[in-house]
Amino acid sequence: MEKQIILTGDRPSGRLHLGHFMGSLKSRVELQNDYNQYVMIADLQALTDNSENSQKVVDNVVEVAMDYLSVGIDPLKTTIFIQSQVPELCQLTVLFLNLVTLARLERNPTVKQEIIAKNFERSLPAGFLTYPVSQAADIVAFDANVVPVGEDQLPMIEQTCEIVDKINSLYGNVLVRPKALIPKVGARLVGIDGKNKMSKSLGNAVYLSEPTDELRKKVMAMYTDPGHLKVSDPGKVEGNVVFEFLDSFCQDGKMVQDLKDHYQRGGLGDVKIKNLLFDCLEAFIAPIREKRKLYEQDKSQVWSILKTGTQAAQARAARTYKRVSQVMGLQYF
Ligand code: TRP
Repeated sequence: MEKQIILTGDRPSGRLHLGHFMGSLKSRVELQNDYNQYVMIADLQALTDNSENSQKVVDNVVEVAMDYLSVGIDPLKTTIFIQSQVPELCQLTVLFLNLVTLARLERNPTVKQEIIAKNFERSLPAGFLTYPVSQAADIVAFDANVVPVGEDQLPMIEQTCEIVDKINSLYGNVLVRPKALIPKVGARLVGIDGKNKMSKSLGNAVYLSEPTDELRKKVMAMYTDPGHLKVSDPGKVEGNVVFEFLDSFCQDGKMVQDLKDHYQRGGLGDVKIKNLLFDCLEAFIAPIREKRKLYEQDKSQVWSILKTGTQAAQARAARTYKRVSQVMGLQYF
């Protein structure tokens, strides 16, 4: 049987962090064995809210690619490509924009929240409001059956399905209807502030490429239990960032459970658990950092991987565009 197709991606607005690892990278490394997986570096989508900072987006393309490769996304199993270098994605977007109303776009709950968070008000770029349509093009261009995304991306999949249904009802079975694959519970990693999910813009992230000394500082700055004043006091484990991270990154589940029990009884200090967590995280990040260094020293290799992936992605998207333009009669010569 032919493998099912996965399409997923990230905006290259910064290096990737441990939140990305838990939320998506980890599962991509597993899924690439069973699926025909495409991973897109969504530079065009990143430009929709970085119109005056295109260089930042451009510079981060290779950074994100190096993060992918360093955590084990394997270019022999996964097609890694750059969105802007596949013009068919834009061609599909233009066609799809006519199938979506302004009112529908304005109802997208994720976009709504982002508009508020980014303070766009009257300066909202039209490209930002319409990025879900471009995202639909990304997905259908590869005939993706499965799109692994966080819950905040469900409205995008819904929008994609509406566009697919519209095209298919007008022209027959032309496009594949995708399904979202939501990560398991526990995949959403909290930031070091303990207040929000890990996010670059909130400044609470630990990066996959974090240097050792920075990592130590961040672990020491982690939010624990503000009521745990003296070592002898009983401490809370829920909402305690150190324990959330130990759950995610420490291999020894029994040790973590013993630590939790001890912390809750009292007599276990924050510095002690932070030192243990630092050791776990350093053990996790060190091999990623090492692998990344090799790519940093040979960026031409990374570009060559991106070029090969992008060429393959372009060929695939061209097939879909041909199918769509054919049924619409947009082939004159
Ligand atoms: N919107 C996604 C994000 O912000 C990135 C993205 C762009 C994407 N196109 C996609 C994800 C297509 C899945 C499928 O993370």
